[in-house]
Amino acid sequence: MSYKAYVFDAYGTLFDVHSAVSRNAALVGENAARVSEIWRNKQLEYSWTRTGMGRYRDFWSLTTEALDFALEFVPGANKRARDVLLEAYRTLDCYDEVPGVLKALKTRGLKTAILSNGSPDMLQSAVDSAGLGGLLDDLFSVHDVGVFKTDFSTYAMVTDKYRIEPGAVSFQSSNRWDVAGASAFGFDVRWINRTGQPDEYRDLPPTDVLQDLNGLP
Ligand code: LAC
Repeated sequence: MSYKAYVFDAYGTLFDVHSAVSRNAALVGENAARVSEIWRNKQLEYSWTRTGMGRYRDFWSLTTEALDFALEFVPGANKRARDVLLEAYRTLDCYDEVPGVLKALKTRGLKTAILSNGSPDMLQSAVDSAGLGGLLDDLFSVHDVGVFKTDFSTYAMVTDKYRIEPGAVSFQSSNRWDVAGASAFGFDVRWINRTGQPDEYRDLPPTDVLQDLNGLP
């Protein structure tokens, strides 16, 4: 299969969402890792509930609300870390292999893009700070359709703009729920299972499972 576009989820796939807390672990306190987990889980929960209700709010607002919850919820978490953590979320580390993988795709003349729940300004900021700007043709933000993944209208942003069939897209995500949504939509999907998570959504499998982005076809 030769794909017309390689499209990447952003958070967890290209960018390490836990790097905001790990960079500031001493400031956050002894339960820093738990703060990071709850921050991420609540951020995602808010995106799903709001899509279900038809009450969209931009992902930056959800990210902020989720952090406030996590800092309140986790015993001993330092609430004064809030602004530092939010700033760090705008400049997350990208995973080591990401620049090389994107460069190799561009050298082959392929289209590359992000499709993310992230609002346009937070995506731009993460891409710029990781130095990935010249390696991506498009940053598709669900903000333009006002719902979050896994609503099909988010995945359709790619096929509408490029005027291609879903099967001509190789979509990469480390989020198994996103893999399920993208597979249901018809993308050819690779699950980037960086942390050895057990499988789920077994009726909506990826085409392939990789440990990281090396080894894309
Ligand atoms: C993204 C998040 C949800 O869409 O991982 O980038």
